[in-house]
Amino acid sequence: MYRQVVVLTLVSWCGASPLPVRVSPKATHHERLQAAHALLKESPLIDGHNDLAWNVRVFLQNKLHTFNLSSDLTQEKPWMNSPISQTDLPRLKKGQVAAQFWSVYVPCESQYLNTVQLLLEQIDVVKRIIAASPRDTVLVKTSAEIIEEFERGRVASLMGMEGGHGLASSMGVVRAVYDLGVRYVTLTHKCHTPWAECSERGPQPPNTRGLTPYGKDLIREMNRVGLMVDVSHASASTARDVLRTSRAPVIFSHSAARALCDIERNVPDDVLSFLAENEGIVMISFDSDFLTCSEAASIQDVVEHINHVRTMAGVDYVGIGAGYDGVNRTPTGLEDVSRYPELFAELLKDPSWSLQDLKKLAGLNLLRVFRRVEQVREELASEKPSEEIIPIHDIDTRWPCRYKFASLDDLRT
Ligand SMILES: *[C@@H]1O[C@H](CO)[C@@H](O)[C@H](O)[C@H]1NC(C)=O
Repeated sequence: MYRQVVVLTLVSWCGASPLPVRVSPKATHHERLQAAHALLKESPLIDGHNDLAWNVRVFLQNKLHTFNLSSDLTQEKPWMNSPISQTDLPRLKKGQVAAQFWSVYVPCESQYLNTVQLLLEQIDVVKRIIAASPRDTVLVKTSAEIIEEFERGRVASLMGMEGGHGLASSMGVVRAVYDLGVRYVTLTHKCHTPWAECSERGPQPPNTRGLTPYGKDLIREMNRVGLMVDVSHASASTARDVLRTSRAPVIFSHSAARALCDIERNVPDDVLSFLAENEGIVMISFDSDFLTCSEAASIQDVVEHINHVRTMAGVDYVGIGAGYDGVNRTPTGLEDVSRYPELFAELLKDPSWSLQDLKKLAGLNLLRVFRRVEQVREELASEKPSEEIIPIHDIDTRWPCRYKFASLDDLRT
């Protein structure tokens, strides 16, 4: 049934006039909320980033015998006492989330140490959490499966890896994480990698502004295998280099607009214009620190960031990447994953948002990006896997690098 809707949607992307908004701008909050529920029942809501898995590591050391994501975690220790516990399956369903990208996160403290082990343990714990709730959610690996699960009424779970240092600068790890089901890589977290500059000032200066030549090779390999490239947390120089290098659309999985809150972590206007040419997406974060550069924000502030990306890039290039379970201060009214319909109820006040455009924001834009990334993978099927190795001068040799070579001297040859 839904597949026909998608076909019609694709047709309307080619320039048909937008559908009329079903509620008047003067409708009551209750009427707009009902309209938002109807909209998200008809078309999938996809969120780009959720940090639950790292909280499971920190709070439970990945011991799941007392953990059940299908239960009401607002009543369970230690979650009920934590201000950053904002997620469980009952609330995801109330929030009408069709698909969630779960972050498999690697902390910067592990760079050059056990990043790959920590990454594998994050992937393992996400898979075990999902497998324990088969009635409510399932791990999916393709855009088509997101639609299938939306039709079945289960939350489609996907994995996005946060922190390119977790790749250990290795083409082999890039290919392996794809095979394990990861579908995007956030190139940096709050530290530079040997091949990409992040948006924070790290303990050491970056090797380069933006990407090194090896960093560009890594992007091309991600394109070849079908991994979406995520530049949230990367510097603007890195984002520009990625946009110049990538053969597929690029994503910001959880970011906001720098014009409205001037911090390095947010996306500047020139990058927003560039992103439209690339046909990528900025998924807007629900973190007050990024929205207003202060501790407080409202739903209207989220709307302003969405509208800014719509103005600068276009309505086809904006989505939702709340960042729940990793947000210290959520906007008022968007306290947890049950609240997404409130955002759509707010947007329905604005007659310049057609229902079709709201569906794009909710999930159709991300689906378009994901499909295109899958298509690029198919187009590049005859290309050989990259066997490039990171140049020795890009690695900080003060760290105990544990490469699969007899010694670092082997890399110098
Ligand atoms: C998890 O919680 C759900 C909802 O309360 C319940 O139906 C299910 O049986 C629980 N699973 C386990 C393994 O206890």
